[in-house]
Amino acid sequence: MTHGLPDGSRLGFGVASAAYQVEGAPAADGKGPSIWDTLTRVPGAIDDGSDGSIACASYPDPGPDLDLVAGLGVGHYRFSIAWPRIVPCGDGVVNTHGLGYYDRLVDGLLERGVDPMVTLYHWDLPQALEDAGGWLVRDTAERFADYAMVVHDHFADRVRIWATLNEPWCSAYLGYGSGRHAPGRQVGGDAHRAAHHLLLAHGLAAGRMRAAGADTVGIVLNLTPVWPDSPAAEEAADGVDAIRNRVWLGPLVDGAHDEGTLRVAPVLGDPELVRPGDLELVQGSADWLGVNYYTPARVDLPVAGDDAAVDSGGDSDVAAFPGVEGFRFTPRHPRSAIDWEIEPRGLEELLVATHQRTGLPLMVTENGGAFADRTLQPDGTVDDEDRVDYLRSHLAAIDAARAAGADVRSYVVWTLMDNFEWSHGYTQTFGLVHVDRSDLARAPKRSYRWLADVVRERTT
Ligand code: FCB
Repeated sequence: MTHGLPDGSRLGFGVASAAYQVEGAPAADGKGPSIWDTLTRVPGAIDDGSDGSIACASYPDPGPDLDLVAGLGVGHYRFSIAWPRIVPCGDGVVNTHGLGYYDRLVDGLLERGVDPMVTLYHWDLPQALEDAGGWLVRDTAERFADYAMVVHDHFADRVRIWATLNEPWCSAYLGYGSGRHAPGRQVGGDAHRAAHHLLLAHGLAAGRMRAAGADTVGIVLNLTPVWPDSPAAEEAADGVDAIRNRVWLGPLVDGAHDEGTLRVAPVLGDPELVRPGDLELVQGSADWLGVNYYTPARVDLPVAGDDAAVDSGGDSDVAAFPGVEGFRFTPRHPRSAIDWEIEPRGLEELLVATHQRTGLPLMVTENGGAFADRTLQPDGTVDDEDRVDYLRSHLAAIDAARAAGADVRSYVVWTLMDNFEWSHGYTQTFGLVHVDRSDLARAPKRSYRWLADVVRERTT
């Protein structure tokens, strides 16, 4: 058994959130600005013109949210630490007030019998580091490892499960490719540089944390099955697979990029970018792998006159795949409110394939559904049957993958409560708990009660 993870004999359960999506208080107690504080000020960047300055107002007192976590009966709570609360200017000067907030969070979880599962980077880069080049420059990877060690040294006595990065594909390719995410840049093929520096950041941090005694350090990837719709689309699908999946798994498992990846991302073969020793550092650096899954990627050739960016089924626009030419995404129905195809079979296939590819213990670190939640009951609860259906079918997919031999240890649902959904602002709600935007009152939805029942039945 890997220390800190559920032992695998029974599926563990958890629920997730991320700092910028719930905390608010973007300048409190010495916090520095992050790239999301900056992007949300750009007109048109966020669908409803909103930002995370209030979010769920979980800062400074996480207590009420932790009661909701504990009420689910789950074994762990996955949350992220905001780098700019700890190192406001990215320069190494530590803000002890920021650590104090996460002390309250971690201690509050442990008091409630819930294991903290800490993500060190869920997209909120200190703006000062972006000003110095962001993920396009190598130094950011070194700065991340320094920050990771500050957090590790402070919490090592209380935190066992660590994830370095959340979904580096988004940081690299939505951040610097399509520009839909912070920092909102569009640098084409140079986005592959960001991908390398993110991998390096993970490798450097994991190495140093392990040298300091950590033994449950993982990385969270939004891997996806890629399904070509026609034989003619197979080459493009291979390129999409390279950028979504293999660009990360190759270095992590083999310490190398495969030929197909280098074809769409030739800069990853440049020794000035990928220096001798970099990929060796990344190889074997994850004790476990987090898999976030919402929807599969179906790929076909573009049709004449068709705008490839239209109906991409969410955030996966083609500009986020530099080097892959002439394709479009072809999501089918049914879809959730965010326009992502609902296909639990994709999760089963992905888990089995990822188990075979990596041999690592897996945790489904995010999975959940955005639904419109219109059916508010007189007592204030939301009757979100569609979300319950989504979660039920994906839990069944995990069970099927486990039955097929995949070593899946845990199911962590996205997300505890309705929150700031990045470029979609507050227009998309994934929560098990409804948050009233006028007064931030929390009300557990039917899906919350459903999950609490499932956890009770399956873990006691
Ligand atoms: C994932 C993010 C998470 C949330 C869900 C819906 O890509 O990691 O923060 O936005 O999507």
